[in-house]
Amino acid sequence: MKDNDDLDEMVRGLQEQIDAEEEKEFSAKVLREYRNPQNVGRIKEPDCVGIILGPCGDTMEFSINLRNNRVRRVLFMTDGCGPSIACGSMTTKMATGKTIEEALQIRDLDILNALDGLPEENRHCAKLVMDTLHKALCNFMEGNP
Ligand code: FES
Repeated sequence: MKDNDDLDEMVRGLQEQIDAEEEKEFSAKVLREYRNPQNVGRIKEPDCVGIILGPCGDTMEFSINLRNNRVRRVLFMTDGCGPSIACGSMTTKMATGKTIEEALQIRDLDILNALDGLPEENRHCAKLVMDTLHKALCNFMEGNP
């Protein structure tokens, strides 16, 4: 039993160390979205989908249901980094309820502002998310699934 307790203690210590490192690097909003992301998944019968393989090698995917020219539901999936998860989660919340035109106005800077910023080396993650949202909506406007 003592060995298990020691192991649990070690794992807890490591986790606290990781949490402390993340808290130094990222804003509270980034950590909230990353640790508890919203709207993750793939819509079964979407009106449109956007998938982009970013230059970093990570893929971002948005699937969207629209109604009366508005974003009714939007889910995202990614195999990317923590910041990309935070950006994806925040962007789905920002886009929901907006008209297609309004959602197309969401810029990477808006995503970064909504998250209280990201470190320089993670700013491209917000651009990948913005581009993927726009690609999904453009696919719809061009009549592609
Ligand atoms: Fe690829 Fe963040 S490093 S999306």
